[in-house]
Amino acid sequence: MSSDKSLRQAADSREFDLGVAVDPDALRNDVSYRARVRDEFNAVTPENALKMGPLRPTPDTYDFGDADAIVNFARANDMAVRGHTLVWHNQTPTWFQPWDYTDDQLAEFLREHIQTVAGRYRQTVDVWDVVNEAVDDDGTMRDTVWYEAMGETYLDRAFEWAHEVDPEADLYYNDYGADAVNEKSDAIYDLLERLLDRGVPIDGVGLQLHALGEWPDPESIAENIRRFQALGLDVQITEMDVAFPAGEAPEDALEQQAAFYRDVVEVCLDTGVDTLVTWGVGDANSWIRGFRDFAERYTGDPLLFDDRNQPKPAYHAVKDALDS
Ligand code: G3I
Repeated sequence: MSSDKSLRQAADSREFDLGVAVDPDALRNDVSYRARVRDEFNAVTPENALKMGPLRPTPDTYDFGDADAIVNFARANDMAVRGHTLVWHNQTPTWFQPWDYTDDQLAEFLREHIQTVAGRYRQTVDVWDVVNEAVDDDGTMRDTVWYEAMGETYLDRAFEWAHEVDPEADLYYNDYGADAVNEKSDAIYDLLERLLDRGVPIDGVGLQLHALGEWPDPESIAENIRRFQALGLDVQITEMDVAFPAGEAPEDALEQQAAFYRDVVEVCLDTGVDTLVTWGVGDANSWIRGFRDFAERYTGDPLLFDDRNQPKPAYHAVKDALDS
């Protein structure tokens, strides 16, 4: 059994940011959830509250209620905040009909959104996922409303707009399925190299690490991290969770899950990555249970705490790795 330190104390003693994706309703209404966030983690990411859809109930209004509640909780408990995400093709407002806008109007819409949101959290949000998931699974640029309107330069402009209103914040490109060296991470490597060549103010890359069904090889994750670092970029693990294919969880599933979490933390420590975020507190809150057909495809227990927010073997494995 691991030491009697909390996970947060183990992370703090390593100056390691161990973060968690947070849901505002659970934070407000669930005492054990709130205590786990405060006592076991030293960084938070609003799971949905800082996305365009939740922030923009109508074309002329912003609702910062949920985002403020999470950011203020973090600040009150001396926790770092990762802002997720300023530009994405998903979770745009229900009223947002791109065909109602010219390309220039879409660019102005995006500038205004980025500068309003990043401007409001200047010096309270430490890191922003400025652009999320702009590369498709086959390595081509994802055909989004922003790409159609501005081409690849929508990334240049998005990072410049964010940097203008908060020069102190670290600005990241964030994506999934690119944790190890593969066709998609090759394409992201080439994209970020082009952005850097064009002088775009990008500080880092976020590897989401949703290990669902097939888990990436830790050695290949390390190699991938090192090549991005060689470009002068920082790397963070931004949305980690670990699940088996549904119906295929082995006898020692929790031990295998714990070993993979440990391996990834050790890759972080070996490569100088100082931030790892888990995409939820306890299994009961995991997005996998309510997202599309994912509950039929994957096991619904991907996190460090179980349905009752009690520590799992993965919790102890992460703490041991940080404590060693
Ligand atoms: O808030 C509304 C609520 O008012 C409504 O009653 C309810 C029923 O439709 O929906 C609620 O919104 C849901 C929202 O989560 C908040 O719970 C959306 O339907 C649902 O689609 C949304 O799912 C989020 C998903 O992103 C959207 O794509 C997940 O919680 C969130 O974990 C997930 O996170 C993404 C990252 O942002 C990017 N990387 C992948 C990751 C997992 O998909």
